[in-house]
Amino acid sequence: MDIFVDTADLDEIKEAESWGILDGVTTNPSLIKQAVENSQGEMSLEDHIKEILSTVDGPVSLEVASTDHREMVREAETLYEKFNSVNDNVVVKIPVNTSMDAEDDDFEGIKAIRTLSESGIPVNCTLVMKPNQALLAAKAGAAYVSPFLGRIDDYIRKEIGLERGEDYPKGTYYPQELAEYIRSQNMQRKIGELGMDDIIYQDQETMKIFDWGNDAGVLSGVDMVWSIDQIFENYDFDTEIIAASIRTERQVRQCAEIGADIATIPFSVIEKMTVHYKTSEGMKSFCDDVIPEYEDILEG
Ligand code: E4P
Repeated sequence: MDIFVDTADLDEIKEAESWGILDGVTTNPSLIKQAVENSQGEMSLEDHIKEILSTVDGPVSLEVASTDHREMVREAETLYEKFNSVNDNVVVKIPVNTSMDAEDDDFEGIKAIRTLSESGIPVNCTLVMKPNQALLAAKAGAAYVSPFLGRIDDYIRKEIGLERGEDYPKGTYYPQELAEYIRSQNMQRKIGELGMDDIIYQDQETMKIFDWGNDAGVLSGVDMVWSIDQIFENYDFDTEIIAASIRTERQVRQCAEIGADIATIPFSVIEKMTVHYKTSEGMKSFCDDVIPEYEDILEG
């Protein structure tokens, strides 16, 4: 699995790069805003973006900010022309659907993806919240799709909380018994023992919890990634999946288990991936046990 860092913070990008584990970067307007606030005007935004591009020898996603397909294409071309010459690694992020109100058009994003892909500008289709959006984006020619698995887990967690009168804040894990249930459903589905209807309508409680969205049947954020992967495999799409909006180490592990192409991970979560208290404990005892003769050998 390729690892992208989900940040526009230069220090974080440079640090991850120095570990030799970094395959790319994803940014969005919120991450750029955060990075600029933190950098306190040390350099212009244009130079900041150029430095990100030259630090990483892998795809760097830069997002458009408009909602109309012509404007998005214009902004994408501007970003590509301005920055791709730095390191030939610009990917333009286009939201799958830019609609914010009922009267807005739902297909601006898909139209922009099609135009840009036809003109050879690689697109990362962002804000994917269900498999059908990923299917349309892949058909329109997106090089990448980014399912926001963490936001889906946040949403499910909130729905479960409302259902049970409990609060499961963003980034927390599901209650154990529910996690086990979801896991068992995913595993059964993976080995094809049950059809979708069997899973959703197996019992009343689960039905209530999961029958909320307009794509009932996605059991978790990772399940959405798995479902998109199955669809792409069925039809031999070249579109790569970037598991995005990751909050926890567990989500990273689950993405790796289901074989996600790429995970874009906040730097704080990448840091946690190295940590285990038994590793620290073992480290302490190894250090305590170093005898002087061994120290002499190590000194050379
Ligand atoms: C994806 O490329 C986005 O930048 C990102 O993963 C969004 O994550 P969030 O839900 O933590 O904002």
